Amino acid sequence: MNGGAICLQLDFAFQAEIRPGQFLSARYEDDILPTSLFPCGMDGKDFTTIQTLPLAWQPDVSLSIRYPLGKGFVIPPSTRRLLMVSAAENPLRLLPAAFAVLAGGGEAALFSYSLPGDISPEVELLTRDELPDACTWADCIIGDTSIDNLPVWKKMVTHGEAVSVKQNIQVLVDTPMACHGTAECGVCAVKTKHGWKNACSDGPVFPLAELDL
Ligand code: FES
Repeated sequence: MNGGAICLQLDFAFQAEIRPGQFLSARYEDDILPTSLFPCGMDGKDFTTIQTLPLAWQPDVSLSIRYPLGKGFVIPPSTRRLLMVSAAENPLRLLPAAFAVLAGGGEAALFSYSLPGDISPEVELLTRDELPDACTWADCIIGDTSIDNLPVWKKMVTHGEAVSVKQNIQVLVDTPMACHGTAECGVCAVKTKHGWKNACSDGPVFPLAELDL
């Protein structure tokens, strides 16, 4: 457990790089639907989900997994000031991006309604009142939110201003995901300025400027 979130350690048969914001599709033999697992924590080596874990998942269970799936956060190497704004149940899925920026000598700040139990002291924690200044300070803003809460999240990081394509704001959009792209079920559809996109394959991380809210 990290705060209220369950984190999983997986023993991979084959290792592959999984970027922050990308996910694994994991399924136990009796599971009806797959579970999305995202890299989490400062080193991105554990995995977490915002779904309810199936009861059959106990330590030492063998899962079928596909990875890496989707498009994750793209943090430019020039990023010196990273702001993370989480409106999800916990911000754990954002933290691996901070790890890379901190390792390169940059700074990272986090606003989140709920905090993990374990977080690096190098990450500055912000109050809601400090958020507007931090949005001006940052050269890259990332975050996560449910699709229903997306307009509220957008207001939190833009204060109602229009988003320019030049502003580097990326958001992990949580939608229901049923097939993870294998059946083109479309339940994960997100409306963008270029038509409907599937969060499971075109996202779940989208540039905010591309979303049609
Ligand atoms: S979850 Fe089925 S297409 Fe995305």
